Order: sequence, then C-alpha cells, then structure tokens
Amino acid sequence: MKSLIFKKDGLNKLSASYIPEKLPSREEHRLEIFNTVIGFIEGKLPLKAIVLNGPSGSGKTVTVKKASEQVLNYCNQKGIKIEYRHLNTRFASSDFTLAQMIALSLMPNIPGRGYSSKELLFTIFDYLEKSGKSFLLVLDDFDSFLSGVRSRFFTDLLKISEEYEGRVKVILILIGIEDVSKKVKDSWATSFFWRIGRSFKPYSAEEISVILKDRVELSFNENSVDDSLIYLMGRMTERFGYGSARYGIELLLTSGLNASYEGSSKVVAEHVREAQYRIESIITPADLKTLFSQDPEIHRLVERLIRVFESCEEPFVDFKTLEEHGVRTRDSGVMERLKRLHLEGLLDYNPSRKELALIGMPLRLLQQAFD
Ligand SMILES: Nc1ncnc2c1ncn2[C@@H]1O[C@H](COP(=O)(O)OP(=O)(O)O)[C@@H](O)[C@H]1O
Ligand SMILES: [Mg+2]
Repeated sequence: MKSLIFKKDGLNKLSASYIPEKLPSREEHRLEIFNTVIGFIEGKLPLKAIVLNGPSGSGKTVTVKKASEQVLNYCNQKGIKIEYRHLNTRFASSDFTLAQMIALSLMPNIPGRGYSSKELLFTIFDYLEKSGKSFLLVLDDFDSFLSGVRSRFFTDLLKISEEYEGRVKVILILIGIEDVSKKVKDSWATSFFWRIGRSFKPYSAEEISVILKDRVELSFNENSVDDSLIYLMGRMTERFGYGSARYGIELLLTSGLNASYEGSSKVVAEHVREAQYRIESIITPADLKTLFSQDPEIHRLVERLIRVFESCEEPFVDFKTLEEHGVRTRDSGVMERLKRLHLEGLLDYNPSRKELALIGMPLRLLQQAFD
C-alpha cells in the first residue's frame, strides 16, 4: 500500500546506514579532514594518526566517511593507489583482535591462527608494499578500545613503519567520544597524533532543524511535515537528546511512522511528542500530581494550558493566544511557574520568542494527570 506520509524508499533515507549528500554544519569539518589526509598522502611522513572526537551523534562517523569518499575520488583522479577501510573497533578486545580485523579487511583469506599481532602488522605492511598502495584506515569508536586494553598497538605500528622506511604510507583516522591522543602519554605520541582543529559539538536546535529539513525532503511526501514541527524536534533534541543528530532523526522517523499507522497524511505535534515519549519518559503524570499538590497555582495553570494545547494546531503557541485563554503571561507569578515547568521538562517556554510548547509528554498523558 502506498504510504500517505513517506515517499517510496523514504524510510531508507532515515536509516542509520544512509549517507546524506549534504552535511549541514559539518562541511568545513569534512573539508579540513580531506585537506589533512591529502596533505599526509602527498607529504613525506610515512605514518600519521588524525584524531577527532566529540559526543555521540555529533556527526563524526558520517563526516569522516564523506571526507574519505572525497579522498578516494581525488586519488583516483591523480592516479594515486590507495586502500581505504573504515572499521568499528568497539568490539576489538585486544591488540591481536584489532590487528586481525585490519588484516582480514585487506586480505580476507589470511589464516585466522598462527600469527601474533605484530606478525599480522608485518603482513599488512608487506601487502601494502607489494601492491604499492597507500592505506587510509579509519578506526571508529576507538576510545573504548584504548580504555579496555593495555595497548602496544601504536608503538608496534611506529616501529614497523620505520622498518619500511617510507616505502609504505599509512594514514590513520582515530575517532572517539574522548580524545584518543590524551590516552597515550609517551613522548613520541606528540608528533604522531594530529588533532583536527574544528571540534564536533552537540548540535543546536537550529542546526538539527536544518539537518532534518533535508531528510524530510528526501523521505516525506510534500507538505506532510511543517517547519514548526521540525523545529519542535530540534528543541527536543537539544534539550533531551544531548544535541545528537541520531536522536533527531529517530524522532523524525518515529513521528512519521506514528502518523502513518493512523492513516494520517500529516504529521502533527502529538505524533512527535509520542515519538519522544517512546524514546524516554521525561516527566510522568505522577510527577505532575506531586507538583500540583505542592502548588495549587501550577495545577490551575496547567489546566488552562491543556485547553490551549487541545484547541491549537500549532506546536508552538504564541503569548497572544495564551492570553486569550486566560494565561497571564506578563504576571510574574505565572512567569515563575512557566519557568518551573520548563525546567521540569514539561514545557518549552521561550520568553524572547514569546512562545510556548508542550514537549515533555504527549497531551494524552497530560490529560491523565487530571483524572
Ligand atoms: N551534519 C549532518 N548532516 C546530516 N546528517 C547528519 C549530520 N550529522 C550527523 N548526521 C546523521 O546523524 C546520525 C549520527 O551521526 P554519526 O556520524 O553516526 O555521529 P557520531 O559518529 O558522532 O556518533 C547519522 O545517521 C548521520 O548520517
Ligand atoms: Mg560514530
């Protein structure tokens, strides 16, 4: 059956493995990584590790993948022979399994037994020397590897690299939530690691909105997701999802599925709030009841707000509409309580934009707090 919400093949573009054309807020990062890698490929140094770090969902993996794609194109044009592998090392438990992962990725038929990790590294360098190829190797989620084992990986790698005296060129990209280069204290490390200048920070609501807008265009039928809803997802992501694009995309996907299951042709705010609530519960009806018992004024205020949310289609209600429903937005007592409900996570209260949204629970649950 044809979906009223999603385009044909739209769901695919919201999946974790999809690599988007554009990377809003990360194009400069991509370019810096590309330039750095090319600099090392064309330069004299035989071995270098580019290090980048940042919180989960800040676009590290996808940015490195896009930059690597660009490196391959460049090398192709220039006739530079190169191998490229992007390995997730989260489950590598020792230097041996790590070396084995790398070796197998290049030489699938290499015997699994009978080699030490050092021998495996020699085999890798032999292979690269014989094939005359440079090697761009991305080790993703690498900080968990380093915290789990006492690694000699880098010292071995450096030593072996010296033995090949610049005949083999290896460029590593090390990705982690924490700064991998800080975990290695030895003196050689300072010249070995190269830190990317641009940092991967959590995305703001505005940045998430731009990212999600692209995905909406790719995945959803026209006019099925309004911009105000995309901004709502941006605010939820900034406030509850640590600014992770992964969180934002999941919100978008689940909101669309919610609308789809209902047979609706449009995503509405309640679909988004239900999607958020599926990911985690921010505040429960029971929490609210406790608040109400502490402060009956909050009880009256929320009662009025419910009527506003029930009658208003827009996710963000402007202060004028609130006033019309008897919410006195200029009253200092009301302002204090709205601020409190913002801090509790129930509301997104924005005095400078003069607007307010319900974000911490679905309206359906909020109504239950009054049962
Ligand atoms: N700037 C961006 N533009 C488009 N999509 C992005 C951007 N940053 C992250 N994403 C998407 O968000 C998800 C998480 O990004 P990812 O690179 O895996 O984050 P990290 O590796 O930092 O945890 C992926 O689906 C990715 O495609
Ligand atoms: Mg990642």
